[in-house]
Amino acid sequence: MNDSLLAYLNGEYVPKDQACVPITDRGLLFGDSVYEVIPAYGGRPFRVPHHLRRLDRSLAAIRMQNPLSQDEWQKIFERLTQQLPGKDQSIYLQVTRGSYPVRNHVIPDDIQPNVIAFTSVNPARDPDKARRGIKVITLEDIRWHRCDIKATTLLANVLARAQATEEGADEAILIRDAAAMEGTASNLFVVSNGLVITPPDSPELLPGITRDLVLELCREAGVPFAQATIGMPDLEHADEIWLTSSTREVAAVVELNGRPVGNGTPGEMWHRMDALFQACKERLRLGGDCHVD
Ligand code: PDD
Repeated sequence: MNDSLLAYLNGEYVPKDQACVPITDRGLLFGDSVYEVIPAYGGRPFRVPHHLRRLDRSLAAIRMQNPLSQDEWQKIFERLTQQLPGKDQSIYLQVTRGSYPVRNHVIPDDIQPNVIAFTSVNPARDPDKARRGIKVITLEDIRWHRCDIKATTLLANVLARAQATEEGADEAILIRDAAAMEGTASNLFVVSNGLVITPPDSPELLPGITRDLVLELCREAGVPFAQATIGMPDLEHADEIWLTSSTREVAAVVELNGRPVGNGTPGEMWHRMDALFQACKERLRLGGDCHVD
């Protein structure tokens, strides 16, 4: 663990392991805060405008304004990632409602947000591991009805992941009203007869930045795709299942509830999408960008 890194805290850069917010912070007391996780490949942050747009959306949904401009955020990301030049890393940022002396559910008028950001090294991608795929289970989705907000109130996700781990799985796909929504920290895709399908945007799932890119890559490569409800039978009979996120990239699911998906190895379409995704990362590493449209 490299604890000598500096973190951003309300305008200052302080050693990560010494950066503190008060115990009266509403993020701590109420989960009253939102966050982003931004991958940086070769030290270059990935799809920053997309992440900042989603941050704006999350803040607006919880009745907050973005305390910093795009430029200010960019400068923070630069300063943080420069500490690990050329390295793959994850930038974490969080904006909390702020600290207030009185604990009360009512949102105070005179409160200033606490803003934190830090970076951590990501281990280099292991292509063999990616080709082994991951195992998932399905669980009931017991989360609230605003999963489109990237809020730090993640206890239901954490408990579902704990159950998945206990059952020897890497992730859980959450089922609400007989429809598969997403993973505890990832978006869901199935491939069926050559068609790539992801559940439609709704308040019940996070509009993932990786998911958007996968849809763009499908469009660019002429791979047919659709946004449609995925029921349990669709999941069970899918040729392929993928889970996407800023940390997992595009992961192939090879086992669902103890049964093989397809022939139990990552499918042909996954290989194609993974190659497109890796090429996109490579463009970013070389100083280009990952925007395909
Ligand atoms: N989570 N759905 C949920 C519930 C998530 O928490 C995440 C990401 C995603 C994928 O979104 P994106 O492609 O923008 O990373 C979908 C991050 C990685 C986390 O909480 O650590």
